[in-house]
Amino acid sequence: MTTAVCPGSFDPITNGHLDIVTRAARHFDKVIVLVTGNPTKKSGLFSIEERVNLIREVTQHLPNVEVDNWGGLLVDYTTAHGVTALVKGLRTALDYEYELPMAQMNRRLTGVDTYFLLTDEKYGYISSSLTKEVAKYGGDITGLVPDHVREAMVEKLRPGEAPGEAQ
Ligand code: PNS
Repeated sequence: MTTAVCPGSFDPITNGHLDIVTRAARHFDKVIVLVTGNPTKKSGLFSIEERVNLIREVTQHLPNVEVDNWGGLLVDYTTAHGVTALVKGLRTALDYEYELPMAQMNRRLTGVDTYFLLTDEKYGYISSSLTKEVAKYGGDITGLVPDHVREAMVEKLRPGEAPGEAQ
């Protein structure tokens, strides 16, 4: 059975991420969407648990997709779970510059391979941070994130709610 991990901070998952996960799920028997970060450290708009729950909600129609979180080295997770493939999306050459050293480091550490899927052109400009920035100032983020995530963002960024830091 082939298993791949799609790692990321997913604060929150966007339609670009979801497209990559959906496509990865066609190529691997199982895909684990792995939210990285320390669950006890409060940083970002959503807690790690909230991110995991949002991803579970928006991937529930994909039977071979699971969601997990991890606060350590990515390769320690893949080794512990017998996973030999990582999948990431590439939007631009900037993403490539950012991803290449991580892919090479992860491969050096344990031999895990990173597969890159080119982002669909519909989603090439979408990032979690830009989406948060737009939402923070009341802009329309319809179509940038799944509807369920948009509702959670609007709720979180409502004046008087949690800090709502856009990063
Ligand atoms: O969504 P992001 O922030 O671009 O994801 C980057 C991520 C989380 C995949 C990367 O920071 C990571 O792998 N973090 C886990 C800690 C780790 O293994 N760091 C060494 C990477 S070579």
